[in-house]
Amino acid sequence: MADTLTITDNRTGKSYEVPIIDGTIRAADLRQIKVGAEDFGVMSYDPAFMNTASCRSKITYLDGDAGILRYRGYPIEQLAEHSTYLEVAYLLIHGELPDKAQLAAWQHSITTHTFVHEFLKRALEGYRYDAHPMGRLVAFLATLSTFYTDAKDVRNAECRRMHTIRIIAKMPTIAAWAYRHSLGRPYIYPNNELSYPGNFLAMLFQIAEPKFKVHPVLERALDVLFILHADHEQNCSTSAARGVGSAESDPYVSLAAASAALYGPLHGGANEAVLRMLKKIGSVKNVPDFIASVKKGEGKLMGFGHRVYKNYDPRAKVIKRLADQVFDVTGKNPLLDIALELEKIALSDDYFIKRKLYPNVDFYSGLIYQAMGFPMEMFPVLFAIPRASGWLAQWSEMLEDPEQKIARPRQVYIGVDERNYVPLDKRG
Ligand code: CMC
Repeated sequence: MADTLTITDNRTGKSYEVPIIDGTIRAADLRQIKVGAEDFGVMSYDPAFMNTASCRSKITYLDGDAGILRYRGYPIEQLAEHSTYLEVAYLLIHGELPDKAQLAAWQHSITTHTFVHEFLKRALEGYRYDAHPMGRLVAFLATLSTFYTDAKDVRNAECRRMHTIRIIAKMPTIAAWAYRHSLGRPYIYPNNELSYPGNFLAMLFQIAEPKFKVHPVLERALDVLFILHADHEQNCSTSAARGVGSAESDPYVSLAAASAALYGPLHGGANEAVLRMLKKIGSVKNVPDFIASVKKGEGKLMGFGHRVYKNYDPRAKVIKRLADQVFDVTGKNPLLDIALELEKIALSDDYFIKRKLYPNVDFYSGLIYQAMGFPMEMFPVLFAIPRASGWLAQWSEMLEDPEQKIARPRQVYIGVDERNYVPLDKRG
């Protein structure tokens, strides 16, 4: 049996044989299918990339029908149970889990790059107190590009390594300061004695206590949430990071673009949208009416559905278990009962079953974030902090891939044909 596809062009009667490699045909192989020498050749048309692989990647494996997610081969459930976010970030970027010495060196490099220059602090102060923290994160990442001008040497692996460390290290500092700025509280500088999530929580919530103690359950919960959000292969924001990075733009602006994509309510902004939806529903007794309005097309059930998962999102399963541990410490989020009722009704309703709509990562994460004391506007930022490691791993892989070039999709032009310019006084 040949691993090929035979295509017959009924316009000409000619047949073409194209190779099938890893379940794909190359779109460029279609270009040989022409009706004449002048013909451009057949293109594939795929709005929203519903069935187009844009790269070959070794980073994250996702089987949406089976509900499987693995980073570099390791099941997400095992990483969430046994690993730490920093170890997972190392895994995503380097391809292997670190040994003890590698992990210690990696943690040391990250911890010693958590401070941001005072000049950048002043830039952050330019925003109004009520600016959305995600907007500030996007702008701040771009501002870092003006500061680290040496980051433009993107074909240099050592340069990429250095700025990868800087970005992973500084994301929590930038995010925490954006939050403190919105409250008018003084910024707390990084404490390099603390873990990655512990330091972040301290920079967010410490008031004046010299010995602020992070609750170990909340510290671990945040670390697990960071692991679950670290990468998710070629989604909208990762494609933005790869697409912008393919122009050899530096990693700061490439990640600013990725964060801008993540900001949207259909992507990383969904966790915030879920909370707003639960608040609007207000009570368990209003759930059936809300579901009925979704089925009438009056809105979406936020936190449900996924382009790739047509099964329960494996990250949502871990988060649902994590929620119980967090609520034991913080007290139950009163919106949880509404979420559980929504899930129960939706999972037994034909509309959702037929369309394979299941809870995704964002359905329960917002409830945990809120119970931990985060305001809703911070939720997408909490997604962006760990996703930075995934974006950077994907960005580097793209730059090292000899098959990749500047991203440049084709289009099917459907506008008017050539016509002559009409002077203003002659236009009807
Ligand atoms: N509530 C109600 N109906 C829905 C929903 C939803 N959340 N999601 C999809 N549908 C319906 C949709 O209306 C369509 O129905 P029909 O076939 O009758 O037109 C059908 O299901 C297929 O949906 P689609 O819009 O073609 O699916 P998509 O792959 O383009 O969209 C999605 C994926 C995630 C954007 C979408 O499911 C959605 O908007 N969900 C809510 C937002 C959300 O939770 N986003 C977070 C995604 S997970 C975090 C991340 O990785 O970004």
